[in-house]
Amino acid sequence: MRPDSMATYLTGDNILFSNDAFGQHYAIEELFNDKAEPCLLWGEAMKYYANILNPFSPLVKKKIEEIQSLNLPIDIIAPSHGAIWREDPMQIVEKYYQWAQDYQENQITVVYDTMWEGTMQLAHAIGEEISHLQPDTKVKVFNISQSDKNDIMTEVFKSKAIAVGSPTVGQDILSAVGGWLDFLKELKFKNKKAAVFGCYGWSGESTKILRERLSAAGFAVTEPEIKCNWNPTDTDLAKAAEIAKVLCE
Ligand SMILES: Cc1cc2nc3c(=O)[nH]c(=O)nc-3n(C[C@H](O)[C@H](O)[C@H](O)COP(=O)(O)O)c2cc1C
Repeated sequence: MRPDSMATYLTGDNILFSNDAFGQHYAIEELFNDKAEPCLLWGEAMKYYANILNPFSPLVKKKIEEIQSLNLPIDIIAPSHGAIWREDPMQIVEKYYQWAQDYQENQITVVYDTMWEGTMQLAHAIGEEISHLQPDTKVKVFNISQSDKNDIMTEVFKSKAIAVGSPTVGQDILSAVGGWLDFLKELKFKNKKAAVFGCYGWSGESTKILRERLSAAGFAVTEPEIKCNWNPTDTDLAKAAEIAKVLCE
């Protein structure tokens, strides 16, 4: 699946030793998938895919098709780390096939960092407007510097759109947002929209930089933005509805 990964198939016992594929960064004492707590197991399996394998999705799809065409009986899939899939082992292969094809759920994720909480207010206003406009859409809001970056990426993986916010600092964006955007670019997400927002004092470069960085990461960056001078006023917060509208379309 990854260029550095090689699988082995044991004829007779019908075991696929899949190396990195189908694994998780998760240990269960009883070893097998049917002994694991399903929410944790699937959460970890998706987190692993989103954060490690997503850039290789075209390869994953091709490889699964290749293996399926061999028509091998597979009774067990034993990855190099995580649960061993012995109960309905093909369920994780089917999930990978879905995940490899620009996977999306009806979710929008808002991520930001802030110094004095102005940008945080904008983030929550955008989240609230989305929930108001499209109650069936799941909305999650994260402060980048207070959250696990891999968890946020898993939420981005599930999302049809994201909104990213940072105040302007030293004519740039906050370093936590900058580092997170580097990682986001590596993961090669496709078919997702993005919007930008942020507070500033005098020069206000952050929204322009966020636009450039998100475009470079492969996101379709939408037009409405909130560029807010110092703390948000009612006029700034009202613009959250415009962002919500384009992200929900
Ligand atoms: C260390 C520091 C550097 C800043 N640099 C800039 C800057 O280069 N340009 C600018 O427009 N505002 C700058 N600001 C002002 C912030 O962008 C402004 O205070 C903003 O309202 C902070 O948003 P927040 O409440 O989300 O933290 C700077 C603020 C600080 C504390």
